[in-house]
Amino acid sequence: MDTAQKDNRPIGIFDSGIGGLSVLESCRAILPYENFIYLADNGFAPYGDKCDDYIRERVFCLSECLIARGVKAIVVACNTATNVGIKMLRERYKIPFVGLEPAIKPARVVDGKTVLLCTPATARQEKFLQLVERYGTEHLIIAPQPNLATIIENCYPNIDLARCEIYKTLNPYADAKAIILGCTHYVLVKDIILDFYNHKNPIFDGNEGASKRLKELLSSYNATNGCIV
Ligand code: DGL
Repeated sequence: MDTAQKDNRPIGIFDSGIGGLSVLESCRAILPYENFIYLADNGFAPYGDKCDDYIRERVFCLSECLIARGVKAIVVACNTATNVGIKMLRERYKIPFVGLEPAIKPARVVDGKTVLLCTPATARQEKFLQLVERYGTEHLIIAPQPNLATIIENCYPNIDLARCEIYKTLNPYADAKAIILGCTHYVLVKDIILDFYNHKNPIFDGNEGASKRLKELLSSYNATNGCIV
């Protein structure tokens, strides 16, 4: 256990809606002494079918809202918002930002058809395409989903109501060997996806990577709340 200077300012975390709650859970598990403020931008969701300018305006607005509440770091708990806006956020504000990225790199261990589910807005971003170029294998299939995040958002917290739609989404990929969840909403239905593949196929997401990055950043800024487990 490390001891460090105590900085009890909260950490801000936002998503277009409830998807980022899955990231919040990972962050709280790894940083149990930290305080968090979660913003769900439900009134403006979904982001995945919007233009880049719309999404950028939302990420600036939410970041300013969190900064005004005195946060010491912000987790952009949304693959879409990260891919569209994190570069500009880092240019504009001094506090550290952690983003979400589809776990393409860890999924390289799979030898066979790997399907990456993400929003249409993520799928067209240069940042995302560079990641695919760098780490994607010839087995990688990008499968943008125009409605899936909204279906999950509307079912929450009775996530099982989305089961039928999720199975319909996965049917064309029944022969996949692995799935990458490139949207934080999809992580909330991971158990349903596991059921579809009879718990045989690995499922990758970026949540653990993002929470570890947050922990590293807080340590490097000497900004943890007392101690790191
Ligand atoms: N949860 C968001 C993501 O990770 C997007 C959902 C939406 O379309 O608003 O991409």
